Amino acid sequence: MKYILGCTAALLGMTLAVGLPVAAQEDDLFSFIPDGGRTLLGNLIAEGKVDPGDILSANQDRGAWKAYLDGLSTRLDETQTETLAAYLSATMPPAAKGGETIDTGGLALPRDGRDLTLEFCQSCHIITVVITQDRSREAWLGTMNKPSHVEIDTTQAEREAIADYLILNGGISIDDVPEELRAGGATY
Ligand code: HEC
Repeated sequence: MKYILGCTAALLGMTLAVGLPVAAQEDDLFSFIPDGGRTLLGNLIAEGKVDPGDILSANQDRGAWKAYLDGLSTRLDETQTETLAAYLSATMPPAAKGGETIDTGGLALPRDGRDLTLEFCQSCHIITVVITQDRSREAWLGTMNKPSHVEIDTTQAEREAIADYLILNGGISIDDVPEELRAGGATY
């Protein structure tokens, strides 16, 4: 208990110092997990690189989104560009694709693979079981369709979003995972 309190105080001190919003404070333990498409898009909109009206009404496949993003001068690396292209092709336009949204800089943007992973993949085991695996799409979808996972309340589109995010952003080294998420978290 003492440890947990100390840890919370340290986190609070840190986030107050840099003035992060409330959502980021709650999310801080997971900041080692790379941004998903929702956050990457929110940043591009905040930086004035893209017009939200154009993005939110477009319907393109992943290759077309990738080409569009490559044509902008952004600070996104290759993995981030692929992550965002996969997100945009799966979720845009939100009016047609549906799904829950999260307020991102004042805009209601659909949840991304990272949001879904944090929401659905840590009630039976710690997130580390998921995020340290480096796998193919078939392997990710295979796990999510196993008897131990098939009951999870996600749509097929959401499973694919989780898989597409994890292919690009999974395989995180255990050395980059915070101590408190490294062991003892599995309840199965
Ligand atoms: C309802 C409980 C439950 C939830 C929720 C859950 N898991 Fe699991 N997970 C298990 C169990 C039980 C095992 C170990 C047995 C097994 O592998 O089936 C496991 C093991 C795993 C493994 C390692 C073994 C394997 O099959 O590859 C991965 C990777 C994994 N889960 C991914 C996920 C992802 C991704 C999500 C979120 C979509 C998730 N889990 C959510 C129950 C769960």
